[in-house]
Amino acid sequence: MKQAKLHIEKDFRIAEVDERLFSSFLEHLGRAIYTGIYEPGHPQADENGYRMDVMKLIQQLGVSHIRYPGGNFLSGYDWKDGIGPKEDRPRRLDLAWHTIESNQFGIDEFYDWSKKAGTQIMGAVNMGTGTPKDAGQLVEYCNFAGGTYWSDLRAKNGHKDPLNIKLWCIGNEMDGEWQICHLDADDYGKKAVEAAKIMRWIDDSIQMVACGSASTLQKTYPEWDRKVMEYTYDYVDYLSLHRYYENEGNDFDFLASFVDMDRFIHTLEGTANYVKALKRGTKDICFSFDEWNVWYQQHQQPHPWQEAPEILEDHYTLLDALVFAGMSMTLLNHADRVKIACLAQLVNVIAPIFTEKGGRVIKQSIYYPFEYMSKFGRGTVLKPVVSTPTAESRYGDTPLLQQSVVYDEKTNAVTVFALNIGAEEMQLDLDLRSFGKVKMQEHICMAGSLSATNTFAQPDAVTPKDLPLEQGEFDTCSVILQPQSYHVLRFSL
Ligand code: AHR
Repeated sequence: MKQAKLHIEKDFRIAEVDERLFSSFLEHLGRAIYTGIYEPGHPQADENGYRMDVMKLIQQLGVSHIRYPGGNFLSGYDWKDGIGPKEDRPRRLDLAWHTIESNQFGIDEFYDWSKKAGTQIMGAVNMGTGTPKDAGQLVEYCNFAGGTYWSDLRAKNGHKDPLNIKLWCIGNEMDGEWQICHLDADDYGKKAVEAAKIMRWIDDSIQMVACGSASTLQKTYPEWDRKVMEYTYDYVDYLSLHRYYENEGNDFDFLASFVDMDRFIHTLEGTANYVKALKRGTKDICFSFDEWNVWYQQHQQPHPWQEAPEILEDHYTLLDALVFAGMSMTLLNHADRVKIACLAQLVNVIAPIFTEKGGRVIKQSIYYPFEYMSKFGRGTVLKPVVSTPTAESRYGDTPLLQQSVVYDEKTNAVTVFALNIGAEEMQLDLDLRSFGKVKMQEHICMAGSLSATNTFAQPDAVTPKDLPLEQGEFDTCSVILQPQSYHVLRFSL
């Protein structure tokens, strides 16, 4: 059996977790909005057409902010098409996803939906076909108190009080050659600065996120990031990072995805520190990892022009959930620099929640690691001394144990998240002596057939199980981690 050890010291702190790390993303893409969160006439829909069965599952996830309205969709979207009387709204071609956008749902509807769901909005302005002027007008529409053209129009459209959207993305993946009106780093950097200036003049309490690399696979990474940070250092608050992983045929390499994600963040920390030094600045640039997930991009097929097509509807296995869990721990372990992270996406489109049009809703396998991260990942992330066996993956020498430890002083509890990516059982020794005596409260585990998938016929094929607890009070203990398994160990102090 493999052996690993975590020596956990309560004073070895990485950072307090920002609650925006538990954010997600809803794009006008496929069935994320239409027949996802919004389906007038559905038996579970409220008077506004919001699906309550879906909202309930979103609420259970404890999502903080939801990024909206895109994504690639953003770069061709005119937000003005989505306001005012629904019957007057134009039907448009969405060139990003080759679909027809009915505009029956826009910023006012999303605001009402968010209020009901108890989530905050992470807004986004179009830096593809959109101009800095359009971006300013959107901020005026959303956040200006009243007495001007756009703020009065908002009141006329049903929202007398400002929507007060305080967090904004300046464009989406503008480094991607697939993006509508893609720009190079110099052109994007200059445009982002001008948009940010206008937006802040209208509301100086907002925070903004500039586009970083769409992936570590981009040819322009990490030069893009250096240049964008150099342009925007004095104007924006965060740089965005995006990364999706898929199984390219080797399960172990796939399970090791967290290693690549960790290096991505580490590299951009170095790049951000370089820019800070160059600027003789005092501010650390922090990150918004506003798209992360498993996504089988190779499954994408051409489709005809239509409204709300069934696209990007990945069905996740237990293996996908394990990979996802590893990524969630990397995000926690970088809580000192990653302040915002959005699980991309939330409903139907590469999502933890999956609906039938007119019918049922299920939780996908990745729902659970996100739920646990959001529920038990609040507090202070600690930096244990880790001893773990390693093996060679496509990323080089790879730890077989991925872990994250969070100490919640409010509830006086410690949570150890652990992932064994090896094909053998692992004994994990935990040294908790710095906390005195502890009691084990929960041991949740996800393990089993790696190909198991939740479906409408078998919605509980992949669910977490409660394992027997170590009894009594103790300051050290050992747990057995099955091959390829995810664990949440909860201790009260
Ligand atoms: O989340 C799906 C797509 O992935 C988003 O629209 C885009 O930003 C990214 O490439």
